[in-house]
Amino acid sequence: MTKIAIIGAGPCGLSMLRSFEQAEKKGEKIPEIVCFDKQDDWGGLWNYSWRTGSDQYGDPVPNSMYRYLWSNGPKECLEFADYSFDEHFGKPIPSFPPREVLYDYILGRVKKGNLKDKVKFNTSVTNVMYDGNNFELTYRDKKNNKILKDVFDYVIVSTGHFSVPFIPEYPGMKSFPGRIMHSHDFRDAEEFRDKNVIVLGSSYSAEDVALQCHKYGAKSVTIGYRHNPMGFKWPNGMKEVFHLDRLEGNKAIFKDGHEQVADAIILCTGYLHHFPFLSEDLKLNTVNRLYPPKLYKGVVWQNNHKLMYLGMQDQFHTFNMFDCQAWFARDIIMKKIKIPDNSEIEKDINKWVSMEEKLENPDQMIDFQTEYTKELHSLSDYPKIDFELIRKHFKEWEHHKVENIMTYRNKSFSSPVTGSIGPVHHTPWETAMDDSLKVFLDQKK
Ligand SMILES: Cc1cc2nc3c(=O)[nH]c(=O)nc-3n(C[C@H](O)[C@H](O)[C@H](O)COP(=O)(O)OP(=O)(O)OC[C@H]3O[C@@H](n4cnc5c(N)ncnc54)[C@H](O)[C@@H]3O)c2cc1C
Ligand SMILES: NC(=O)c1ccc[n+]([C@@H]2O[C@H](COP(=O)([O-])OP(=O)(O)OC[C@H]3O[C@@H](n4cnc5c(N)ncnc54)[C@H](OP(=O)(O)O)[C@@H]3O)[C@@H](O)[C@H]2O)c1
Repeated sequence: MTKIAIIGAGPCGLSMLRSFEQAEKKGEKIPEIVCFDKQDDWGGLWNYSWRTGSDQYGDPVPNSMYRYLWSNGPKECLEFADYSFDEHFGKPIPSFPPREVLYDYILGRVKKGNLKDKVKFNTSVTNVMYDGNNFELTYRDKKNNKILKDVFDYVIVSTGHFSVPFIPEYPGMKSFPGRIMHSHDFRDAEEFRDKNVIVLGSSYSAEDVALQCHKYGAKSVTIGYRHNPMGFKWPNGMKEVFHLDRLEGNKAIFKDGHEQVADAIILCTGYLHHFPFLSEDLKLNTVNRLYPPKLYKGVVWQNNHKLMYLGMQDQFHTFNMFDCQAWFARDIIMKKIKIPDNSEIEKDINKWVSMEEKLENPDQMIDFQTEYTKELHSLSDYPKIDFELIRKHFKEWEHHKVENIMTYRNKSFSSPVTGSIGPVHHTPWETAMDDSLKVFLDQKK
């Protein structure tokens, strides 16, 4: 019998498990599956951890989630085609849920069967090698401190790529008297109440961490971008300036001449695709981009078609794109999809990579990833979902952010699965301090 290893039980690993479960429900014979996760439960980043640094077994903590995180895109854009929000919550809910609500939703469809039995928790995969026939996988049972080995026909890498921080150094950091941290270790914006905070970066973490600090009472927030500013209309108390030059004592000096006294510096400088457990011939080497090279259809490792990667792209689309990838990977493993010859693979990868290299703005990037996801969707029996509506929602959402970065999360969108419209949330995001599932779902509040 074919045996497959899934490394990681975050949203991508769960999509993979779900895809096989659905095939089995249709009476198909599925392979033997072993899923590994180094955390103590499933859900990946969405399984919030207070821990930073190392865990109790000496492993680096992979989790980058923080308190008060709300979805940064409309939930309708990430909805599962086979399990709608309406089905999970029994009613339509607002379009921008906080972490606990999304966590509940992600787990909803996988909790129903016996998928959890297939996952070895507190288990780190430490080495994967291919011997020409099979993969030999070494893993550490962290609780019992045991090193074990097993052999697999296929390996699915679904370890995420927002866990290992990229940490640059700027002159003066060594003598800066305040706190310097990466967004990977950011847990609670309350820590920065009444503080002057510098945030470095110009992507989603920089935007959200800066807004969080402002929302929870930071005295000032100064964002230092390196290449392009985010350019939103920031509220009083926030500003965006050009590139940090150096620190002198507690003063941050920027390349545009701007100076700001600081209590804390939060590096929102992104993450590394880091796979120390894979031998060199199997290892994806890439920066965070919409089409990492050497992956056929963004999934199959060009040099070894029995190795697949899920969710390695930079992400507009998330959970339903992960599903499309998982359904595609499943059908390759179950021999329902035939992989073309090497020259076709090369041509297909080059086509997507060269299209990606020409993208100039967010609308084009949304179009690109929507086209990619639609193509994958057409290759399997993943249920019907309206990707054209999702494309439209993403573009509208981008424009809402430009209109007002403080209010875009108060908007409503319609479901690409059920058509229902998310009700307006009872409290505008800016004043909603309690992000618990209970308070969020209490529409009478
Ligand atoms: C701060 C933050 C906020 C985000 N907010 C949103 C959002 O609002 N909306 C959205 O759609 N997306 C968001 N994302 C994007 C996020 O990437 C996806 O939502 C999703 O979590 C990706 O799923 P994944 O399974 O690829 O990775 P992860 O969620 O990272 O899960 C990977 C799993 O693999 C396990 N693992 C890693 N290495 C090993 C190993 N060697 N052995 C065993 N197990 C291993 C980890 O323990 C983890 O459980 C956010 C990301 C970050 C960092
Ligand atoms: N739900 C939410 O609200 C939420 C919140 C946070 C994060 N997220 C998710 O988390 C994921 C990761 O986002 P991310 O922002 O951490 O990573 P990212 O999108 O990869 O962005 C990395 C940023 O770091 C900057 N950078 C890198 N090196 C730098 C340096 N030396 N000095 C200054 N800036 C530097 C880059 O700037 P350049 O452009 O100049 O290279 C870029 O802006 C995304 O999927 C996002 O959606 C979601």
